[in-house]
Amino acid sequence: MVCLGNICRSPMAEGILRHKLISEGEDYVVDSAGTDGFHVGEGPDKRAVKIAKQHGVDIVNLKCRKFEHQDFTRFDYIFAMDKSNYSNLIRLAKNEEEKSRVHLFLEFTGNPNVQEVPDPWYGNEDDFENVYRLLDSACDKAVELLKQTKSKALKRP
Ligand code: 4NP
Repeated sequence: MVCLGNICRSPMAEGILRHKLISEGEDYVVDSAGTDGFHVGEGPDKRAVKIAKQHGVDIVNLKCRKFEHQDFTRFDYIFAMDKSNYSNLIRLAKNEEEKSRVHLFLEFTGNPNVQEVPDPWYGNEDDFENVYRLLDSACDKAVELLKQTKSKALKRP
């Protein structure tokens, strides 16, 4: 999960997806990072921690890190929260294989109404709640898509 600062949207997305996968008994590595390094080493924004906690998702111990080139090979799916994060990632990719792993998260999960997770950094708790809801339903769909992909991969000879 990738956003700009890795303190608002992507740690919430990481926490929500991990929580859902664990409750489904699915074993995946989920992580998040920012394309900028302003907040490296910090925990998530207090508002992100609070809203996630209200929904039963604990993200207080996550630590901000900057996206690194090796993430293109460490992860099968790299989800960008908005179009600017997406183009930053595509710029960092060195070949088509790396580019093919990058997806706009809401587009990948098929949200017909909203393409981007809005940056809540300058907003209030309502904006964080709105982000949480968008991420929660996108993560539900992501879990289904990952399960389908896995069952197709297992069926290959
Ligand atoms: P995020 O939000 O990309 O969702 O983590 C932001 C956090 C910090 C800043 C910008 C966006 N910042 O400019 O410090």
